[in-house]
Amino acid sequence: MNIAIFASGSGTNLQAIIDAKGRNEIKGEIALVVSDVPTCLALERAKKAGIKRLVVERKGFKSKSDFEKEIMRNLKKENIGLIALAGYMRILSADFIKSYENKILNIHPALLPSFKGAHGIKDAFEYGVKITGLTVHFVTADMDAGPIILQSAVKVTEDDTEETLAQAIHKEEHKIYPRAIQLFIEGRLKIEGRRVRII
Ligand code: GAR
Repeated sequence: MNIAIFASGSGTNLQAIIDAKGRNEIKGEIALVVSDVPTCLALERAKKAGIKRLVVERKGFKSKSDFEKEIMRNLKKENIGLIALAGYMRILSADFIKSYENKILNIHPALLPSFKGAHGIKDAFEYGVKITGLTVHFVTADMDAGPIILQSAVKVTEDDTEETLAQAIHKEEHKIYPRAIQLFIEGRLKIEGRRVRII
């Protein structure tokens, strides 16, 4: 199965997926890395790993629909069967999501449905929760609200700062996301309403 990873930032999750593939823990091919930020570190990581890169900037297109069509054209060309969002900081349209229904995964740095949005770690830290974590879920038209595949909890200690908490969450993300991707590839994720059964 060909996988496309979408990223806008430092790409540490992308790196974890590349490393897992290197250890043969992911059986699919990372066929394409898609980014909307031409200078992001994620693209550097892809280049280093010899993975095909696609940069599509929103500002290059009149409408969101044209922007997404360009991405979609390339996904079709690469015969992509799974999209993994890894710090891709754009909201995909309902039409885009529909054309890859139940084939898009996202990782979010909080225990959904708490602390949705772009600042999950900061929001949870400032709220004062004692336990937070991360969530891998299917992407649906409602942001950060799709069926949950895997979650992992991370304790917030007295000594934690937002930075140390972020480090702990990222470390855990790097274990969980490759695992979720491999479960998808093995066809072991069965969506039953809001629940995902791992078979
Ligand atoms: C990750 O922590 C991911 O959970 C988060 O962006 C970070 C990307 O880091 N995603 C979201 O907040 C989505 N709402 P990375 O570029 O180093 O993988």
